[in-house]
Amino acid sequence: MKKEKKIILAIDGPAGAGKSSAGKLAAKRLGFTYLDTGAMYRAVALAVKESGVEIDEEYVSKILPHLDIELKDDKIFLNGVDISSKIRTPEMDLLASSVSRLKCVREFLGRLQRSIGEKGKVVAEGRDMGTVIFPDAAAKVFLTATPEVRAYRRLKQLKEKGVVADYDELVKQIKERDIADSTRDIAPLKPASDAMVLDSTDKDLNTVVNIIVDFSKKQFEKLEH
Ligand code: DC
Repeated sequence: MKKEKKIILAIDGPAGAGKSSAGKLAAKRLGFTYLDTGAMYRAVALAVKESGVEIDEEYVSKILPHLDIELKDDKIFLNGVDISSKIRTPEMDLLASSVSRLKCVREFLGRLQRSIGEKGKVVAEGRDMGTVIFPDAAAKVFLTATPEVRAYRRLKQLKEKGVVADYDELVKQIKERDIADSTRDIAPLKPASDAMVLDSTDKDLNTVVNIIVDFSKKQFEKLEH
């Protein structure tokens, strides 16, 4: 039996493709809740770092039940503490990618993500939203851009936050993360078969958001007929 589609916009794609900026604006325009799942992996990464445990199923699975992760007003809280700026560093980029390979972490966060998406009207952004977490999302977008453009965007983002980074190093890290994220065993990064693939390399944010919102509205309208 075919599953009923949900009023969810799933945006997946590699780091720096513009998913967060586009996702936030699309959520605002659609009047939906914005779900930043990358921030959740980063929160687990920070907890792993602070507790000093090894990145291993056995150790990490023990700390997960003690983590209360909450997304509120574009901020992320870990056990009640606002960690929004702490999780946006090159170190956390790599650590989040490492913890995201663990099955216990994917299951733990997957449950949390599904419970938030249950009621629909959500823009869910990450790597496996359209493929694993919300396969029945009515609108799926896979957003990409060249590694060089993505590194440049990340450099700008970091600069705005006062974090100094090296462009060449960022290109290298982005390429490494692409390989790690798309070749891992569980929930690798790939477009869902029914996703619209959108290359943002030569498009400004406004154009990308317009394309995504128009596409989503059309997909959601189809559900009404
Ligand atoms: O989108 P981001 O850069 O904040 O994500 C951080 C890391 O988390 C990224 O390397 C891959 C991982 N991630 C994931 O595996 N699945 C998701 N749904 C979201 C992020």
